[in-house]
Amino acid sequence: MQDLLATSLRYRNGQLHVLDQRRLPAEEDWQVCTHADDLVSLIQGLAIRGAPLIGIAASLWVGHIAEQGADKLQLTELIAKLRAARPTAVNLMNYLDRLQNKVDQGALAKTISDEAVAIFEEDVRLCAAMSAHGAALVKPNARILTHCNTGSLATAGVGTALGVITTAHQQGKNIKVWVDETRPLLQGGRLTSWELEKAGVPYQLICDNVAGSLMAAGEVDIIFVGADRIATNGDFANKVGTYALAVLASYHQIPFYVVAPVTTIDPNCGHGRDIPIEQRNAQEVRGVRGVSGSSGECHWTPKNAPVYNPAFDVTPAKLVTGWVLDKGVFNQNDVKENALLNV
Ligand code: MRU
Repeated sequence: MQDLLATSLRYRNGQLHVLDQRRLPAEEDWQVCTHADDLVSLIQGLAIRGAPLIGIAASLWVGHIAEQGADKLQLTELIAKLRAARPTAVNLMNYLDRLQNKVDQGALAKTISDEAVAIFEEDVRLCAAMSAHGAALVKPNARILTHCNTGSLATAGVGTALGVITTAHQQGKNIKVWVDETRPLLQGGRLTSWELEKAGVPYQLICDNVAGSLMAAGEVDIIFVGADRIATNGDFANKVGTYALAVLASYHQIPFYVVAPVTTIDPNCGHGRDIPIEQRNAQEVRGVRGVSGSSGECHWTPKNAPVYNPAFDVTPAKLVTGWVLDKGVFNQNDVKENALLNV
């Protein structure tokens, strides 16, 4: 496969390299992937994360293994293993289905790896298109709120919601960003802050529970978030805490946009209640382990405090002002007329 370069993923000289996002922003630690089990554990541990990037990394690995001479059965087993790595972000399943189709057709290794490269390159184009559509919604001097990390760390391109934000900044709109820290794994505090600093975008980090009072004080003009899976009725799953933001935005009449590529739509899922929600380890909520390069462990709860730790929540379509997709911005009427089924 040809060399490919993204902020947190590289294919170079026949090897897949991933930037370990668990160690950001303290360290930029690149790891070489040597086995499918490594890749699965890097994905499950959130070293590789973000809906598009999970699927792109898995696809490049399938392309790489095809080029190593794996047969149809081996590739089918590999795809099944990668598919099960995380349950909510549907890009993983959508991309692996494309590769499985090639395998089922008995395609040559080169055709399979070409498809993996096409998935990578396509995401770069989809990110650029979404960012342009979303940035057009941003007024000069806007104060934008975002959640989790949806930038170049989470995609092969400039990102989804964060791509909109950095694009609006590059257009000279004089924006300011409120960054939700995004408990419990702090993708906002660690990753979005890191990306915004690199891009020179003015931002302020807030605890997740500050968003409501900021909105009440009139300090938020517009909200952009990403998605892990969009049902065809417009409901969508995203990092836990997104639903609360959408309810607050509706109460305060603040425009609330979800930004995602077509590859995040699940054509087989008609309603948000059918989106599988990943449940994660209790230790993530009981304390901090290994954040920012530390190998120590800090617990702040009773040792075995019972924990409920869903990684995502579902926001109903009725709370969404618009769906910023690579094809353009869809409104409530478009979605009611099944626009998401036909993008
Ligand atoms: O658990 P994560 O960090 O993979 O969750 C990421 C999100 O929820 C993002 O908002 C979503 O994947 C969109 S990334 C472009």
